[in-house]
Amino acid sequence: MKTIVVAAIAGLLLGTLLIWLGVYNVAANDKHLSITENLLEVVRERSIETRSADLKAPDLNNSKLIKEGAEHYAEMCTECHLAPGISDTELHTGLYPQPPVFSDSDYDEKPEKQFWVIKNGLKMTGMPAWYPAHTDEQIWGMVAFLQVANTLSEKDYNELSKPSGDGHNHSHEPNNSHGNKTYSEETVSEQQSSHNDDRHSHDSNERASSQAELKTESQAEPQAHNDDGHSHSH
Ligand code: HEC
Repeated sequence: MKTIVVAAIAGLLLGTLLIWLGVYNVAANDKHLSITENLLEVVRERSIETRSADLKAPDLNNSKLIKEGAEHYAEMCTECHLAPGISDTELHTGLYPQPPVFSDSDYDEKPEKQFWVIKNGLKMTGMPAWYPAHTDEQIWGMVAFLQVANTLSEKDYNELSKPSGDGHNHSHEPNNSHGNKTYSEETVSEQQSSHNDDRHSHDSNERASSQAELKTESQAEPQAHNDDGHSHSH
């Protein structure tokens, strides 16, 4: 018993010393040992699985929901997760762990788990929590888009993610609905009536405040990207 206590204290002291000496490399380009990676993977999977077990996805085939999700996705997610026609970005390349590419043909994950991750983010990975800046309905929209992301051509994706000017978008370009009828316009009007089954209702204050936040965000951004001749747009 005495030996165990001594060994435990010695181990603790050695661990503290190694931390203090900065032996562990926290660099993103220094990969984990595969045993650590596997352990982290299990922790992540079990945590998400448990926390998303009670969630129930709404009808994800609703094309209005998919369109809204595609618009949000195009504005906020492609830098890390890419999209049809976007094969790489500086952010995607530099991140560790690597963000999954939803447009890859072999990508597959349960919608409820995707919803939980988008809403809450993932610690120490670069994946942000998109709630409360977005409502549950908007997050389900992104999840709905993810279900079709790897079935779209670049052209279909561009068409689908084009802002439709519903008053909520992150785009900094003026909303112009061109004269010609697009996928978005057709399907939006088709689906208008079938879109009232949102089980995750929110009080209007919450919705109003998140809209206000988004507005501030999109107003503030142009100043951050001032014209210094070094453009990051791809
Ligand atoms: C700054 C980079 C970054 C941005 C922006 C970002 N993500 Fe992520 N996301 C990540 C990383 C990194 C992971 C993977 C973490 C891991 O492997 O543990 C991830 C994981 C996810 C997952 C879990 C996927 C799976 O199969 O396990 C989903 C879903 C997701 N992101 C959706 C989104 C959506 C939707 C957006 C935009 C609203 C977004 N992400 C924006 C970096 C980002």
